[in-house]
Amino acid sequence: MAGNWKMYKTAAETAAFFDKFKPLVEKSDHCDIVICPTFPNLPAAVDAAKGSAIEIGGQNLFWEKEGAYTGEVSGPMLVAVGARWVIIGHSERRHYFAETDQTVLKRTVAALAAGLHPIVCVGERIEQREAGKTEEVLHDQFTGGISALAPEQFAKIVIAYEPVWAIGTGEKCDDEEANRVCGLVRRLLAQVWGAEKAQGVRVLYGGSVDAQNAPGLMRQPEVDGGLVGGKSLIADDFEKIVRAAQQGKGMG
Ligand code: PGA
Repeated sequence: MAGNWKMYKTAAETAAFFDKFKPLVEKSDHCDIVICPTFPNLPAAVDAAKGSAIEIGGQNLFWEKEGAYTGEVSGPMLVAVGARWVIIGHSERRHYFAETDQTVLKRTVAALAAGLHPIVCVGERIEQREAGKTEEVLHDQFTGGISALAPEQFAKIVIAYEPVWAIGTGEKCDDEEANRVCGLVRRLLAQVWGAEKAQGVRVLYGGSVDAQNAPGLMRQPEVDGGLVGGKSLIADDFEKIVRAAQQGKGMG
């Protein structure tokens, strides 16, 4: 269960969140819990998460290790501050910062080389869904990007299916549909790396996940977890979502 904090929270707010959230999830060992704050707040988050199983991730990385790339942050730099995960190709990055499937692939390879767990985002926009192109879009995002990974690289990635129209909108993708498309993502993976390996990859659903809809979503067999934006900023809500995964997967 990963929280994407986007461009929210100062270091002080980060510390306050962890003060509240840590005791709430103390006994939640049924899943990985990951929080992805802004770059400047990574050290505060790593520090605050100490003594818990909560892991910290970045929201992006650049594929070179270092160099004259103003404004960018590399995989080794994320690792050096204690991050273990990184979100790649989020739709906001694709939309506002012109990321493509090719740059998503480069970032994914760089993340793996640095020893980070990449959470690679895919998903269709509303006009693509309305035109009946969801499958095609996912297929293109996949073949234009991460399908070039070698089997040993692929085994380490997590995929997040995030229908763009459901991100930050309160617009709900219903449970069966989330399950259907996460299943479709898994079939795309299976076509390249085989069904058994594809079964082992964690496929997350993201887009307006909250404490109310999380139980239904987490009960879906193809949905292994969630990438949560807005509600991951609120300790009580995120804890309920973490708990929903436990119940949904029959782990408690
Ligand atoms: P949301 O964001 O939960 O606020 O819809 C999800 C995401 O962008 O990862």
